[in-house]
Order: sequence, then structure tokens, then C-alpha cells
Amino acid sequence: MKILLLTLGLGLVCGLQGLDNSAKGSPKLDGKWFTVALASNVTSKIEEGGSLRIFVYNIRVYDGFLTADFFKRENGKCIPFSVTAITKEDGSNLVHYDGLNDFSLESFDDEYSIFMLYNIKDGEVTIWGELFGRTPDLPDEIKKKFEEICERFGIGKDQIRDLYNDDRCEKLR
Ligand SMILES: *[C@@H]1O[C@H](CO)[C@@H](O)[C@H](O)[C@H]1NC(C)=O
Repeated sequence: MKILLLTLGLGLVCGLQGLDNSAKGSPKLDGKWFTVALASNVTSKIEEGGSLRIFVYNIRVYDGFLTADFFKRENGKCIPFSVTAITKEDGSNLVHYDGLNDFSLESFDDEYSIFMLYNIKDGEVTIWGELFGRTPDLPDEIKKKFEEICERFGIGKDQIRDLYNDDRCEKLR
């Protein structure tokens, strides 16, 4: 019930079905990505040792299904894992990771993508956001855009962590 209510508040900018169309000129989500920044209203979750400090390296969109490959660090080791999103009839997108995440793709183009997620775990809700880049770092305008979107979701500037200086398990890529 709680999840249902939350999804009502979340509008997807583009349906995931639309993302694998390969119309000329339209940006695609497929391919290599880097996590450039993370944001959350529970910052301990995106800081070192936090369950939401995860690093994307690839996204695949096939037949409307979105699968993302990530690394996370545990005890100093980089561990790869993958998640696949489910699109429900009401248009919401869900992915299981550290509980359930109801997410929306808020903005993207050839250079970056911004996802905002509501993580629900043991009845607690955490809002978090991911800024992905095709390159390990992104221009300030795009980081500014991420800040603006985070603000709309109630995440302050001080709750954003730039990961440009983190090695993000680069050696395993
Ligand atoms: C984070 O945001 C969610 C959704 O608004 C809220 O339920 C939760 O209490 C917030 N957590 C903190 C620590 O502010």
C-alpha cells in the first residue's frame, strides 16, 4: 500500500519502453556509464560503507527491460552485481536492491543520465539520486542540473557526494 502511494507521486519523464527505440538522433541508455555523483537524504548510505554507494558500469535495454551492471565495495573488494527493472502496469519502475526501489529517469542525453529513486527497506523510505556520465566526470552545468533535480526531491546540496575522485572499481572494468 505504501509503495502504491509512493508511485503515485512519481511521474516518469519517459517510459522505459521508449528508451530502446533506436530512432536516429535520440539518445540511448545502452552502454558504458560511470557513477559521477550520488545523493541521498540519508547520506550515510552513499558514503563509504553505505549500501547505496554503488558504481554503475553498464546499462542494457532490451525489449523494454532495463538491466544495469554495478560494482560495490565490500571489505575492500569490488563485487560486481546486476539488477533488472520491472515496469508495472501503472507505469512505475521497480528494482530490487537493498530493499525495493521505485525509480524514475528524470533527465538524460548522450552525455549523462539522472535517476531518482525511492528506496523502501524495513518500512523506511530513503530518497536517493544517481548522476551517470559517459565519462568519469561531467561538466559543471550537468552537476548543477543534478543539484536542481535533487532539490525538487528534497535532497540538499550538502547531501550530494561527487565521486569523481573515487576509483569506482575502475580496475575491474
Ligand atoms: C527521507 O525522505 C523520505 C521521503 O520523503 C522520508 O520518509 C524520510 O523520513 C527521509 N529521511 C530522513 C532521514 O530525512
